[in-house]
Formats: sequence, structure tokens, C-alpha cells
Amino acid sequence: MSTTLISLNSKAVKFTSTPKNMLINGQWVEAASGKRFETMNPANGEVITSVPEGDKEDINRAVAAARIAFDEGPWPKMKPAERAKLLFKFADLIEENAEELSHLETLDNGAPVNFTAGMASSAAENIRYHAGWATKITGETIPVSVPGNIFNYTRREPIGVCGQIIPWNAPLLMAVWKLAAPLSVGNTVVLKPAENTPLTALRLGELIQEAGFPDGVVNIVTGFGQTAGAALTAHPDVDKIAFTGSTAVGKQIMQAGAVNVKKVSLELGGKSAHIIFADADYDVALRNAANAIFMNSGQVCVAGSRLFVEKKIYDRFMSDLSEYTKNYRVGDGFDRSTVLGPLISEKQKNRVLNYLDIGQREGAELLVGGNTTASDLAKGHYVKPTVLANVTNDMRIAQEEIFGPVVSAMPFDDIDEVIKLANKTDYGLGGGICTTDVRKAHKVAHAMKTGNVWVNTYSLLDPASPFGGYKQSGIGRENGSASIDMYTEIKNVWINLD
Ligand code: NAI
Ligand code: MG
Repeated sequence: MSTTLISLNSKAVKFTSTPKNMLINGQWVEAASGKRFETMNPANGEVITSVPEGDKEDINRAVAAARIAFDEGPWPKMKPAERAKLLFKFADLIEENAEELSHLETLDNGAPVNFTAGMASSAAENIRYHAGWATKITGETIPVSVPGNIFNYTRREPIGVCGQIIPWNAPLLMAVWKLAAPLSVGNTVVLKPAENTPLTALRLGELIQEAGFPDGVVNIVTGFGQTAGAALTAHPDVDKIAFTGSTAVGKQIMQAGAVNVKKVSLELGGKSAHIIFADADYDVALRNAANAIFMNSGQVCVAGSRLFVEKKIYDRFMSDLSEYTKNYRVGDGFDRSTVLGPLISEKQKNRVLNYLDIGQREGAELLVGGNTTASDLAKGHYVKPTVLANVTNDMRIAQEEIFGPVVSAMPFDDIDEVIKLANKTDYGLGGGICTTDVRKAHKVAHAMKTGNVWVNTYSLLDPASPFGGYKQSGIGRENGSASIDMYTEIKNVWINLD
């Protein structure tokens, strides 16, 4: 396997050849404690480099910088076109350094280079989309009916200091989602990347400086969730928290944010239903069903992890899905033929394998997949793409987010039954439908209690398209005009003209 690995981009080699520091108030600094931690390559367990272990004191420094940059600095008062220009510059720099970013991401997170290259280009597009908003934030004039001669209008104002906490499954794109929207409307940011994947966020910090953003507008603190993350969430000078990660931590963040009634937006876990009707284009449905769950080794919040297949075609579909799945190449992300890279950590691998045991004890049948045995894969945290059949919707493997390459498949008889089953979950993030019947497609799409539904496709994202969850999958929507709502306050002004 090692003979086919592509070589690491030379700038990525240089970037990882020294210990990294974090960005506070325009300076690259160590943690106040002096502590550091190592970040690993999940494909082979090797140390890549080390980063500061920021904690409460560092969060205090970063929040103070973001506070001053917001209250006294030029950023929120800057002409919108000037803010946009800096964001466009940032997007250009991402594009110019796309291969380096993609390689750093593959090193740190394990995802295949083709996938991380796609993330880098979508990161640049996301910034450009939001840069476009900077000059288009308007208020309303409102014809009120109270007595007198009143001029009533609204303004959209930035909220202030935003604490942005992101996960490890798509670190580069998640960092950009947590930077572009708040910055475009004049907020300042403290970003805390996941402890497993700090590297691309730090490289983005360098590009932000190269673009010429004022000091303190973007601060990046590396560290752990229970220390740095918790300190950011509890900090009284942080006005808003935006979080992507597990539902369990999302609940803690909501509680911690209550201290000063922070605006809290959450993008959490999922257990998304993918419904295959017998009238679907069979080959499209097969490909979609597989890609919906196995992309990024299943470490995707919208992964189509509950597969409902109409009974008429269930047996044939399961057998073809198993064959299809066997052909996926599992391996190092730097091998161009790899489709599924390693899972992020040994902990995540054990979590996934544990669910395979739980599922089989509950009565599910493992059709294909499971733990890797090949000796050349032994060092990384690999799990084979896995299909579990004979699942019922009340099993733990049908209700809990596994976050690995594991699909739990169930047959169904009719449309009303499958709508009920699909909605029987605490989550509500994604959902898929494969059918050639347009009435069925709309009926099911409207009935699914989820923030995102894909028909005859899966997991497409676009910066113009709002993304987020119903139920315990989250609060708020990122992207589209919804992200402007999320990062602005509405001020209402009354003027007595008499
Ligand atoms: P996590 O939710 O603990 O980590 C996400 C981020 O939250 C990281 O930056 C972490 O440092 C931070 N964090 C953790 N505890 C915190 C706290 N008390 N206060 C503030 N920030 C905190 O996710 P973890 O443990 O890495 O993964 C566990 C499971 O979570 C996965 O198996 C998966 O089911 C789910 N998950 C879902 C994601 C999604 O996009 N929906 C992303 C990552 C994980
Ligand atoms: Mg790593």
C-alpha cells in the first residue's frame, strides 16, 4: 500500500516541521501554562507536530482581544465593501494554498485527499458567498399604526464576540462555516478547533493574517473541550456561541451559555433516514445508499445511517449493496484509490466496533464489513464499510449516532409506515428519498421532520442553502440568508417626527 502514496505537498511538509503556536490578538503565542499536546495522523498513529494546550487563561486573553476588536476596533465600523474585500482576499488565499490545506487536513484527520481537496474548494466558495452578503445587510421601514407621526425602522447589527467550537470530521470546512458568516456582518471571533484536528484552523489563521484582517478580529485557541471549550462557552464577554459536534456536548453548551443568555446555535448529531422506494432508479438508489453512509467513513453528521428499503426489492438490494460495499477501497488518505480513510482515533474506532457488537447482540445480521484484519491497515484506525441487516427501528444501532461506516438497514411495506419509522428518532438533521414518483417525493420530503432532505441525491451542500437540524439535531441554520439572521441582532428605532 505504501508504494502508492502521493507525496506530501512541500508547504505542508514545512508547516508541520515545527511546533505550532496559536493566534491571539494578531500574535502567534504559546499557552499561558506553556503546555502543549501532539496531534496524530490517524492513518498510522504517528505524531505530526504539537500545538499549545490552551485553557481558561488563554480563552480569557483571546476573548479580551476579540472584545476590544469589536468594541473599539475598526472591524464592525468598517465599510461593508472593505470587509468584503478582505474576505475575498482570504478566499483567494485558500484557493492558492488549496493543495497544502487539503494535505494538512488528510494528515490530521485521515480523509482521502480527493475529499479534502473538495473541502478546500468549498471553503473558498463559502467565504465568497458570505463576502457578498457584507454589502447587502439591510433593515426595514415599518408602517406602524400608533398615534403620531412616527418613523419606524430596523437595523441589522453584529452581535459581538462569537465563540466558535468545531469538530474533527470536516475541520477545514467547519472552521470556514464558523468564520465567514459572522465576519461578513462585523462580528469578531474566537475559534476553538477540535483537539484531534487543529492544523488546518491554524493554517487558516496564517492566511487571515496574510489577507490583512485587523488584530483580534479572529483568534484561534487550540485546546480540549472540557477546558478551553468550556471556558469559552461560560465566558461572560462572549455574546454568541456557535457549536458543531455531539448532541451531548451541545446540551452542556446550551446550559453553560445561559450564564449571560448567549445566543446559542447548535449543529449536532443525526440518525438520518434514507428511504428507497421500489420505483426508484435502481442503480442510482444503490449508489446513493452506499455513498450517503460511507462518505468520509461515515463520520458525517447527515450520514444516511438508517436505510429503509421497500420490501419488494429489499433482499435484492441488500445483496447488491453488500457487493457494492465490498469494492470500496479502505486505506491511507494519501492513496488516490482510497475511498474510505481511517476513523479519527482509536477511541472512535472502538466506539464503532462496540456498536457492531451491540447490534449483533440485538439480533442484527452483519452482511459485510467489520473490523480490518489486513496487517498493513493494522496501525491506523480502520473499520471496513459495514452493512447490518435485520435491524428494527428500536434497536440502539437504529437510534444512536454511530459516526462510522455502518448502515442499519430495514425493510418497509408502505409510504405511511416508512414516514412514521423515519420520524421515530430524537434526531432530525438529514434525510434521503429515492423514487421516480414526484408525488411520493414531495409527500415524504414534507413529512420528514428534518432540516435537510435530498431526493435522488444525497448530502449536497451549497453556501446559499440553509443547513441545520430539527429536534435534538440542533438550533439555527447555517448558510444562506439564515446565517445572517444567526449572526445579527435586529434593532428597532422609533423616531417622533413631530
Ligand atoms: P464532541 O462533541 O466532544 O467534540 C466537538 C467539539 O466540542 C470539539 O472541539 C471539542 O473540543 C468540543 N467540546 C467537547 N466538550 C466540550 C465542552 N464541555 N464545552 C465546550 N466544548 C466542548 O465530539 P467527540 O467526543 O469528538 O465525538 C463523539 C461523538 O460525537 C461522535 O461519535 C459523533 O457521534 C458525535 N459528533 C458529531 C459531530 C457532528 O458533526 N454532528 C461531529 C463530531 C462528533
Ligand atoms: Mg490529528
